[in-house]
Amino acid sequence: IDRAALLGGVPMKAVSLVLLTFQNSALILIMRYSRTMPLVNGHRFFSSTSVLLNEVIKLVISAAVALYDLSSNASPNTPATSILSELVTTMFAGDSWKLAIPAALYTLQNSLQYLAVSNLDAATFQVTYQLKILTTAIFSVIMLGRVLSVKKWASLGLLTLGVAIVQLPQDTAQVTIEDSKTGEEAKIGRRALEQIGALGSFAVRSLLGSDAPAEQHLYARESKSVTPEEQNRSLGLIAVLIACAISGLAGVTFEKILKQSPPSQKPVSLWVRNCQLSFFSLFPAFFIGVCWVDGKEISKIGFFAGYNFVVWTAIMFQAGGGLLVALVIKYADNIAKNFATSISIIVSALASAYFFEFQITIVYMIGTAVVIAATFLYSQPDAPPPTKTVEYEES
Ligand code: C5P
Repeated sequence: IDRAALLGGVPMKAVSLVLLTFQNSALILIMRYSRTMPLVNGHRFFSSTSVLLNEVIKLVISAAVALYDLSSNASPNTPATSILSELVTTMFAGDSWKLAIPAALYTLQNSLQYLAVSNLDAATFQVTYQLKILTTAIFSVIMLGRVLSVKKWASLGLLTLGVAIVQLPQDTAQVTIEDSKTGEEAKIGRRALEQIGALGSFAVRSLLGSDAPAEQHLYARESKSVTPEEQNRSLGLIAVLIACAISGLAGVTFEKILKQSPPSQKPVSLWVRNCQLSFFSLFPAFFIGVCWVDGKEISKIGFFAGYNFVVWTAIMFQAGGGLLVALVIKYADNIAKNFATSISIIVSALASAYFFEFQITIVYMIGTAVVIAATFLYSQPDAPPPTKTVEYEES
């Protein structure tokens, strides 16, 4: 076992991949709900503000862990200010400027994700977004010089196919529900989410001691939500396709910086890299998103217009997911990350079966089997490469 991949005896690769699978399932459902739920005090929150807050939260958490690391390595009497200044110096030393590239790409990708999920249903978004499996593989080959065997390419193709199959029943189920009688079954799904939201806001209200009863709040929220007519499917599809291309490029750029630092440079920890990434993301998120795109509206109705418990949950899940992605990229790689998130589709479907009476069909089971087979096939080691060629190249 690789000792570097163990943290206090915990196998980081496996743990981060499993956590990412669950995080991804929850994130898409919560994000979609945050964009379609009834308006909060007549407002829909600005996605630019949530993209910015996501980066602020990641920066705070990464800085806290980086400071903890530095203080554990420092002598017991080192003042806190010198540990802080050491972090700032490391953050801006050497090749830190390179992080501005994935930072700008990720900010754009996160904004596109909100645009896509506002205009496409969760299932369509999730299946189309899986095209990032292919873009990531292509960028890994071009930029990291990764060589994928025919077997690995075949398993990537198989994975894409399996993911597409898994999505079929969800889509058809939704259409039938919308078309038949009064949409009774669709209401079950919505009501379940409504209940989760109400439960959450009730918990927060009890903690904060708000006087308005939770039930009254729930009725108020039923008044206006996004209807399918307000969505623009082609815009959603274009957004998700561009997000796929950027996801591959951003992920591989980050992996390259993380794993291929110049040998002359002092190694930089993952948490300092995350601080750099979030720090550089603050600029496009604030100046382009908050000021330029939404500035006029925000100055009228406020930064936190339309915020409630659900929006905060979506932001926290996204920030947590971002940090998990960083761990996965460090201890495994971008391609393994995509396998974990594609398995999350199965987890989402199982959750839908439980919460929303989603029917598990034969087609769904076939798709699942294909995804599992592809994951298994990909994880099998290839035949060792001809070492002689490598030796010639290196000498
Ligand atoms: O969809 P995809 O897997 O490409 O999404 C990656 C997500 O992880 C993005 O939302 C990005 O902001 C986040 N991330 C992060 N920190 C990293 C790497 C990725 O927050 N070091």
